[in-house]
Amino acid sequence: MGDFLVVGVHTDEEITKHKGPPVFNQEERYRMVRAIKWVDEVVEGAPYVTTLETLDKFDCDFCVHGDDITMTADGTDTYHIVKSAQRYQECKRTQGVSTTNLVGRMLLLSKDHLQRGEQEYSVDKTNSDNMSSDASARSPWTGVSQFLPTTQKILQFSNKNEPKKTDRVLYVAGAFDLFHIGHLDFLEAARKHGDYLIVGLHTDPVVNRYKGYNFPIMNLHERTLSVLAYRCVDEVVIGAPYTVTAEMMDHFNISLVVHGQTNVATDLDGLDPYAEPKKRGKFLQLDSGNSLTTEILVQRILSKRMEYQERNKKKEAKEVAAFEAYTKIQQKETH
Ligand code: C5P
Repeated sequence: MGDFLVVGVHTDEEITKHKGPPVFNQEERYRMVRAIKWVDEVVEGAPYVTTLETLDKFDCDFCVHGDDITMTADGTDTYHIVKSAQRYQECKRTQGVSTTNLVGRMLLLSKDHLQRGEQEYSVDKTNSDNMSSDASARSPWTGVSQFLPTTQKILQFSNKNEPKKTDRVLYVAGAFDLFHIGHLDFLEAARKHGDYLIVGLHTDPVVNRYKGYNFPIMNLHERTLSVLAYRCVDEVVIGAPYTVTAEMMDHFNISLVVHGQTNVATDLDGLDPYAEPKKRGKFLQLDSGNSLTTEILVQRILSKRMEYQERNKKKEAKEVAAFEAYTKIQQKETH
């Protein structure tokens, strides 16, 4: 839609006031948004209702938002000012991906989002289609359909660059579920040890084997795109083998395999998955300096379960009402 992307990120206080507690705090969100490939600049603490002053101050021609309606606590459209000034453009929302939906999956502990056709876990039928916190108030934008990854979508997220002959190629592997600031700290620290970073993502059944419960919360396709969105990642192996083999090391011309401080579970054969890179003297265990893990993050959310449930319910009810009002207006206009 343009040449330079400025992203306004709200403070924790503003978000809590208008839509409920955010999952990551503002400092974490500023850093994470800044690290995304398409982002040129971040406006910290941008006002919840976008003002023309903000657009002018950062030299923005127009403001973009997805085709859903966001509202302040008292029900005003957060983009009403930029809309009436004709400095607003809409993009289509990615179906099936939203914070509301992910929080719903955690709250329900549903396994339905895992990839089908791989049978190492049982799917809980009672929770079928129930990714949202409350099926009686399903949002028309965020509560519907599953995310459908296509090759076009993956292409949009790809760097399209192969490593140069002289590049030091790095390899890391893991679940990278619910991509968080701990992952980012780790990847940025790892990236400093070379020129080209390949992230191997384990399949859903493999992750489920070593993380247990209903992990991963995000399926392999979703994890692929969320990892690919970050600037420090050059390439993703979609469904990497758990054990880093000699063939892999040679095929990708890997100079160094890196892992953080988290536990490394043995493979099904009881062996260390990093035995080969270790044998070659090409293994590094580094300290990301961040102790956040996906499990802790989910705990953070579950401990506020009631608060989030309330948040999801309110938000969805509001969206249902707005959607109905919007449909009525459209029907009137066509008659
Ligand atoms: O747990 P997961 O498989 O998503 O972790 C992927 C990689 O990120 C692992 O190497 C892990 O040790 C590293 N990590 C880290 N610091 C964190 C979280 C993860 O170094 N806070």
